[in-house]
Amino acid sequence: MYLGLDLGTSGLRAVIMDGAGQVHAEAQSPFKAEHPRSGWSEQDPDLWIEACQNCFAQLAADHRDKMQAVLGISLSGHMHGAVLLDAADRPLRPCLLWNDTRAADEARRFDADPLFRAVSGNIVFPGFTAPKVAWVAQNEPDLFAKCATVMLPKDYLRLWLTGIRATDMSDAAGTSWLDVGARAWSEELVETTGLRLDQLPNLLEGAAPAGTLRPDVATAYQLRAGVVVVAGGADNAVAACGVGCFAEGDGFVSLGTSGVVLAAKDSFAPMPDTAVHSFCHAVPDRWYQMGVILAATDCMNWLSRNLGQSAAELSALVDGLPPEPTDLMFVPYLSGERTPHNDASIRGAFVGLDVGHGPADLTKAVMQGVSFALVDNLQALSATGTNLTRVLGIGGGTASAAWVQMLATSLGVPIQLPVKGDFGAAVGAARLAQLGTSGGDMASIMSKPAVAQTIDPDPAHAAGFAQAHQRYQTLYPALKELNP
Ligand code: XUL
Repeated sequence: MYLGLDLGTSGLRAVIMDGAGQVHAEAQSPFKAEHPRSGWSEQDPDLWIEACQNCFAQLAADHRDKMQAVLGISLSGHMHGAVLLDAADRPLRPCLLWNDTRAADEARRFDADPLFRAVSGNIVFPGFTAPKVAWVAQNEPDLFAKCATVMLPKDYLRLWLTGIRATDMSDAAGTSWLDVGARAWSEELVETTGLRLDQLPNLLEGAAPAGTLRPDVATAYQLRAGVVVVAGGADNAVAACGVGCFAEGDGFVSLGTSGVVLAAKDSFAPMPDTAVHSFCHAVPDRWYQMGVILAATDCMNWLSRNLGQSAAELSALVDGLPPEPTDLMFVPYLSGERTPHNDASIRGAFVGLDVGHGPADLTKAVMQGVSFALVDNLQALSATGTNLTRVLGIGGGTASAAWVQMLATSLGVPIQLPVKGDFGAAVGAARLAQLGTSGGDMASIMSKPAVAQTIDPDPAHAAGFAQAHQRYQTLYPALKELNP
């Protein structure tokens, strides 16, 4: 058995998978992010440990035999977070999360130095780790003076599991400190941002063993002493492991808290000007490119909070609407934007509200706006020469048939939905645990899921959605003028 941990923005999920890829047990424990000011997004790292303890306790109580059979553990985590630790490995402050954009000035300053794009292959986005640490250094100097180590979120969880400071290439790629082509920390980048190499964890490939489980953790939760904890990776890379997305031409669209269009790459071929991210994959000698929007299902959650109906209830309302594009436009930049605009200060909008509009219309507009933002991402990928002719659809938002249909029509690309089952980042992590401890080969462990359904673009509405997308594209410059 192999245990995969997926540290998400809204909770931790653990799965236990057997050697044939079958999931036998799972547990979840939710937590929240705090948004104390516009553009700020934080989480107390100790919440992740509590959530892991909860998941382990549930699994130990309900699946004792499976826990005792676990041979390897690995982790997936949300990217870019800055966890600052003191000399005793205690967090000095809440983690600044991936969708925290307060470090826009620091990001702009680093990005103006051509070294960053040349070495890291990426724009220095405000949400990346280096500018956020520089923000702390500038704004909380007393606290920064005590910082012994900077870690990425899942690596703090590993520290609790093993006592070892380590990270992996795919997560390190989102810090602005990695030479992404060479898969090594760039001392020059690290020092330019005011840190020392010894403040960063050791770098490993995703399936490399990082350490062994601490004996007290093993004893407390029915796990074997000495279980190996494998490095793991960044959530999107690990999700790609979960669906066997490695070869040139493989790609997925993810409707999660963030929205992602990802394409696997055989080589490192960055084109930072497009705002496409080029990162190391979680397996050696592979990379991937992706466009990222900061709020996908997060927009649905926002609407659901404000309308007092669950996201599932709102989604069901859209099923009853005609399939044409809606004139009511929604711009999903609730937390600023990455691809293609790299604009931390832009915010969202509804345009064209009518006195007759109700929750169903607002929800459809939100789904359409997120779909159009993902079209912008696909176009940014095309501008790098990466063309996807089909994509897998993953993430919670793909439960809505209406959303997937409008996304396929808007993208102009068929979306393949996997058979019912578990293919998320937790499974990707369990697969990395298996690859790292079993001696098995990548091709058989990291297989592709069977496709249950392919949602083709709807030819009857393709032109309508293309026109509506063109209207949508005029909104960013207009909002840019209007936004304070
Ligand atoms: C990727 C990104 C998000 C987070 C959270 O660059 O910021 O996808 O990893 O899921």
